Amino acid sequence: MAKLASSLMFVVAFATISQEIARALIPCPIPIDTLLCQTTTVTRIRFYMQAIDVGTNETTYRLANASITNQSPTKYGFLDIFDNLLTETSDPRSNPVGRIQGLFGSADLNVIATYNSYNVYFTSGLYNGSTINIAGRDPVFSDYRELFVSGGTRFFRLARGIVTSRAITEDNTTMNAVIEFNVTVVHPTP
Ligand SMILES: *[C@@H]1O[C@H](CO)[C@@H](O)[C@H](O)[C@H]1NC(C)=O
Ligand SMILES: *[C@@H]1O[C@H](CO)[C@@H](O)[C@H](O)[C@H]1NC(C)=O
Ligand SMILES: *[C@@H]1O[C@H](CO)[C@@H](O)[C@H](O)[C@H]1NC(C)=O
Ligand SMILES: *[C@@H]1O[C@H](CO)[C@@H](O)[C@H](O)[C@H]1NC(C)=O
Ligand SMILES: *[C@@H]1O[C@H](CO)[C@@H](O)[C@H](O)[C@H]1NC(C)=O
Repeated sequence: MAKLASSLMFVVAFATISQEIARALIPCPIPIDTLLCQTTTVTRIRFYMQAIDVGTNETTYRLANASITNQSPTKYGFLDIFDNLLTETSDPRSNPVGRIQGLFGSADLNVIATYNSYNVYFTSGLYNGSTINIAGRDPVFSDYRELFVSGGTRFFRLARGIVTSRAITEDNTTMNAVIEFNVTVVHPTP
């Protein structure tokens, strides 16, 4: 019993000390075992993606089509890369929060749904310079779209989380859109 109590005290003390060390070290790499001993923080963030597929200042480009893409009702097999602006509100002139950069492609033969993998690169505020990676299956015309946070850097080291998104405006011809993202990230307290 005494042994258990003393080892628990050690864990608590270690967690407190390692948080101090972690604070001092950021943005230098923290040993992974130190990070795992820290308390956990839940961070909620909302931002808006300004996606421009067609027009001036286009930010999405087609990398490839599959042999089936043009005949497919879901445009199966296309792959696009993008670097879109993230803003604080749905208004494209609102404060920039960062960039969302990565890939998506049609990955469902029967309904319109994409395979997504992209990084959110924050360029302002507390998270400036930090990233989170968002991935998952995205049924783009669905009312409910849920993706996941698969990891992060700096402020968001060892992150995991849930992302919901919805279109605020969407042009079916150009595919230009403003998409709202609610992100809940669980990560060791930086
Ligand atoms: C394209 O970008 C330029 C330079 O940032 C800007 O002046 C212009 O208004 C943009 N055009 C559109 C249609 O957003
Ligand atoms: C993919 O197909 C579309 C529609 O036919 C075409 O506009 C585009 O240029 C093609 N892109 C590539 C990279 O093959
Ligand atoms: C974000 O960090 C970069 C690099 O440290 C710095 O140049 C930039 O001014 C910062 N931006 C804001 C809005 O704080
Ligand atoms: C994001 O959260 C707000 C406030 O809770 C809610 O009104 C909105 O519908 C949510 N959007 C998504 C895409 O989850
Ligand atoms: C856009 O296309 C989707 C899927 O085909 C459809 O459900 C939606 O009603 C269309 N929206 C508009 C504004 O035409």
